[in-house]
Amino acid sequence: MSITQKIMETVAQFMPDKEPDPLLHKHGFIGKPFSRVDGRLKVMGEATFTAEFKIENIAYAALVYSTIAKGKITKIERSEAEKSAGVLAVITHENVPKMNDPATYDPAGDSSGSANSDLPILRDEKIYWNGQPVAVVVAETQDQTEQAAKLINVEYETEDYDVSFDALKDTAVPPKEVMSEPPEVKIGDAEDALEKAEFKIDNIYRTPRYNHNAIEPHATIAVWGDDDETLTIFEPSQTIYAVKNTFVKMFDLAPERVRVISPFVGGGFGGKGGMWWYTALCVAAAKAVNRPVKLALSREGVFRVVGGRTPSEQRVALGANKDGKLSALIQSGVTATTTHNNFAEHFSFPARHLYASENFFIGQKVVFLDTVANTFMRGPGESIGGFALESAMDEFAFELKIDPIELRRINEPAKDPTKDTEFSMRNLIEAYKRGAEKFDWVNNPPRSQKDGKWLIGQGVATAYYPFYRFTATARVRINADGTAIVQTAAHEMGMGTATVQIQHAAERLGLPIDRVAFEYGDSDLPESSMAGGSSQTVSIGASVRAAIEKAHRELLALAGDDYDSPFSYLKYDQIEARNGGLFSKKDASEGETYASILKRVGQDYVEAEETSAKPYEIMKYSMGSYGAQFCEVRVNEESGEVRVSRFLGSFDCGRILNPKTATSQFRGGIIMGIGMALTEETLFDERRGRIMNPSLAEYHVPVNLDIPKIEIIYNDIPDEHAPLGAHGIGEIGITGVAAAIANAVFNATGKRVRDLPITPDKLL
Ligand code: MOS
Repeated sequence: MSITQKIMETVAQFMPDKEPDPLLHKHGFIGKPFSRVDGRLKVMGEATFTAEFKIENIAYAALVYSTIAKGKITKIERSEAEKSAGVLAVITHENVPKMNDPATYDPAGDSSGSANSDLPILRDEKIYWNGQPVAVVVAETQDQTEQAAKLINVEYETEDYDVSFDALKDTAVPPKEVMSEPPEVKIGDAEDALEKAEFKIDNIYRTPRYNHNAIEPHATIAVWGDDDETLTIFEPSQTIYAVKNTFVKMFDLAPERVRVISPFVGGGFGGKGGMWWYTALCVAAAKAVNRPVKLALSREGVFRVVGGRTPSEQRVALGANKDGKLSALIQSGVTATTTHNNFAEHFSFPARHLYASENFFIGQKVVFLDTVANTFMRGPGESIGGFALESAMDEFAFELKIDPIELRRINEPAKDPTKDTEFSMRNLIEAYKRGAEKFDWVNNPPRSQKDGKWLIGQGVATAYYPFYRFTATARVRINADGTAIVQTAAHEMGMGTATVQIQHAAERLGLPIDRVAFEYGDSDLPESSMAGGSSQTVSIGASVRAAIEKAHRELLALAGDDYDSPFSYLKYDQIEARNGGLFSKKDASEGETYASILKRVGQDYVEAEETSAKPYEIMKYSMGSYGAQFCEVRVNEESGEVRVSRFLGSFDCGRILNPKTATSQFRGGIIMGIGMALTEETLFDERRGRIMNPSLAEYHVPVNLDIPKIEIIYNDIPDEHAPLGAHGIGEIGITGVAAAIANAVFNATGKRVRDLPITPDKLL
């Protein structure tokens, strides 16, 4: 018996027998394009983001950043700053309040910690990266604190440091794991098969550093209670319970005394997943000055203290005979992490799941640099790995003289090619078919389409992102007035979390949509899971389903005791929720509204809280979201400028719960992918380890004029094994985009660019 079979048997033992979800195929509120419930607030400027909370007596903090990569502070001259107008405190390692080590985050979704690294920042004189905070200035106003921060002089003693990825990449070593998976996968002998293959390609692809640039820069407001033992933190976070637990530990507080509030997050993309040091320093500063303190990072500040995407260098080699069936698939390479965190970005994930091949070699290595901790960024792993793999597939299709879509069809696996498990659901080829038709896919020879000075080309690539789900807890209260409230400490960073969960809960409760409220973004609510890994909708969905089932069973028990009750002989599986109450599935006249039941038993409401089951489905099946990205580019022959002129994403992500918010998610991902492909790049001084372009003027995110009309289509086929039949949609949009663009650029110009971004200089 193989290890996989053993695991599957064990999992099967623990998988609870579940009734099929009655809502799995039912379309009512689910599947409708409702507008965001928070849309109006946001458009009117009435949604309160972290830095906008009005707190009485608040003081303002600013950070001073290290200018060396490694070493120690020998002297901090702070007297000038202390004398500056409005200054309340200058906090350095010499006078910072006591803080314990933070717990670091756990990629498996445990909420015990959230720090991106466990460095003793500001607790000793050591420097770990160029940009590390070395002092916090607190003053009466934002201007005063920024002014005073400039007056601080720091002297350093520099130690030897490693900041050059290029200099170190040949010394890379395999990490212990990549997102809980082994760094290497070997099936057969891929090098030997490559050697013997009639057709082959073997190339190196490079991706640069990228930095987080959410529209809302990071910020914290910390408010200590008078007792010094109660702490309230306003923080834009993708994982508020983990932030809470971090501060319980760092300041020795009782869990019930720490509250994290995060009602709106202005974009996260992974950059607000773990705790960065500015949050802890704000909390410490508030303690030091005994007042509420706000620390809102400038755009430069976000570049200095919030990590970004690793650079990577990847080899992809493919071998086949002329039928195009892969005999060898090799993807190996190096990414960077730091000496103080360990995130080996999993660029090899797409290669593990996308294509059948007789032989595989997949291998990841990592180098350790003295920089800010690298971190998750939308489609981490998949987006950079997919660039290499999907560029290579296109190159191989050209080599084989097979249409690139046909090459994918030929190599579509029946089972997961490296895990050897069944797919829970996979209709990638269907997504390709539908996309090709809608896009009018043509496979013209390279450099054969022209419009004046503009060379035109089309490209296609596969999008892939794994399915994740975490346990979460939800509470539901059904009121006697026919309204209901669903509560969980979830996150709304623009995806439509609240909207979709209201649709879901209203459907399950049989209530009108405007009678259901969803409360989230506060750690005083039941513990939710993170908003990460494109997992939040199904994670919350499973917990909301469980809580509503519990509430319905309670209502049934309450109501059924009565001799006159219409429920006296109905069991839970014989009823359904509709028309504001519970009714017999068979006989529409048998049943009672919530209002009537609650009134009859003399209660104002019934309330239930439940935690969802563990994600056994992921252990049993290979689960993922899939898609096909189609694009057309126009390349100026004289200047090398690339314009994306058409884009279509065709997705296979299970059931689409809300076409409006889902389309927006896919589209946003594609826009971020266009930035990744063409303009975004962190310019990094490889001698000193300093980011040279920490501003939106020099780090070019796509703007409106860079983006064509983006069409989105999807299969909308439910996955029976996923809550609500849905797969994640938040991250898949970015995956495959850079490759589709590189492939289109090749088709337009005959020139293959294997290192991102595809800037004009690379095409001249
Ligand atoms: Mo995502 S990079 O898991 O926010």
